[in-house]
Amino acid sequence: MAGSDRLRRADCVALDAADDLAPLRDAFVLPEGVVYLDGNSLGALPRRAVDRLRDVTEREWGRDLIRSWNANGWIDLPARVAALLAPLIGAAADEVAVADSTSVNVFKLLAGALRLRPGRRAIVSEQGNFPTDLYVAQGLAGLLGDVDLRLVPRGGLRGALADDVGVLMLTHVDFRTGEVHDMADLTRAAHEVGALALWDLAHSVGAVPVDLGGCGADLAVGCGYKYLNGGPGAPAFAYVARRLQDAFETPLSGWMGHADPFAFGTRYEPAPGVARLLCGTPPVLSLAALECGVETIARAGIDRLRTKSVALTHLFIRLVEQECGGFGFALASPREAERRGSQVSLRHPEGYAIVQALAARGVIGDFRTPDVLRFGFAPAYVRFADAWDAVAALRAVMASREWARSEFQEKGRVT
Ligand SMILES: Cc1ncc(COP(=O)(O)O)c(C=O)c1O
Repeated sequence: MAGSDRLRRADCVALDAADDLAPLRDAFVLPEGVVYLDGNSLGALPRRAVDRLRDVTEREWGRDLIRSWNANGWIDLPARVAALLAPLIGAAADEVAVADSTSVNVFKLLAGALRLRPGRRAIVSEQGNFPTDLYVAQGLAGLLGDVDLRLVPRGGLRGALADDVGVLMLTHVDFRTGEVHDMADLTRAAHEVGALALWDLAHSVGAVPVDLGGCGADLAVGCGYKYLNGGPGAPAFAYVARRLQDAFETPLSGWMGHADPFAFGTRYEPAPGVARLLCGTPPVLSLAALECGVETIARAGIDRLRTKSVALTHLFIRLVEQECGGFGFALASPREAERRGSQVSLRHPEGYAIVQALAARGVIGDFRTPDVLRFGFAPAYVRFADAWDAVAALRAVMASREWARSEFQEKGRVT
């Protein structure tokens, strides 16, 4: 930074001017006057998805109707999107299936993992893991009857790995704090006791480089609607390492994962490879939108995106400390860049109301109970000047005690 240590808005604008990813922002539809720091919850709309969705509805669905499964390649969409997505997570195209939601994929992979490790009836996870992963594991344990779900604090994971553990299930980037697990190390620790490692990449894919192959990871899931910009409720993905695929049995043995769905046979026979992870009819409209999002991110290159993401989150932390000292915020995210995902979380007892007051000023982050304010920095479209503007708004909200207004205390169904 030029001049004194104290940053000014002009310094942030200069960073944008020097940013070779800056033009990528134009690939997204973003409303004027909004600083969008929630791409870790719902990614922005890729501009090309607008035309693609119009085409897939009006021409492919409206005109070509059922013929589109073949003529417009609908049946190949899941594999096409998987091939685009695979390099972002260090996987081969034939190790990824795009289907269902992350929750459903957790169910499929957890159940399949336990079948691959007969006699091992424990699943180890972290108490602070994203709830859906834990709820699904609880549901599966209830269904199977003899499965022990062991939830331990983050620091107790290695100690919980015993020789009755079938699966270690973790989220790579913590949804509250953005802290990153050491995937290679924990996968190795799981393997040392004979367990499989299942990774939830919801807050990694598209923002943090992941090397599932290099880490020796066994299984993984992740969301399409966050940093992949696939749209609300976009299909998720599931990864099964090639070496496990032949023996992998999905509990949701639907016809789209059958070796020959249109033979309409009576007996289920799994498709070769990862295609058995498909279950029902692919959601074509959602897949078409997701394809646009994944293409846009893949083209930008995950290493360049990560470099910008680190710079953005570093800048934001520095600005919060410069501009908002004395307002009672505590940094909940790791200060070291290599341990931090693409978000910065702050703790404050009035976090909920502060997030609402910020939104009223056009700065959109989100809140996670009990006291976490989350700011996601999707590097594909967030600008360095946005970090400044967000912190300036935060300072104004705090200095004026705007957050204390009654309208900012009301809770909607979605926070
Ligand atoms: C780590 C993690 N896993 C899973 C999910 C959600 O899964 P689903 O798409 O099934 O709602 C989220 C949602 O934010 C998440 O953060």
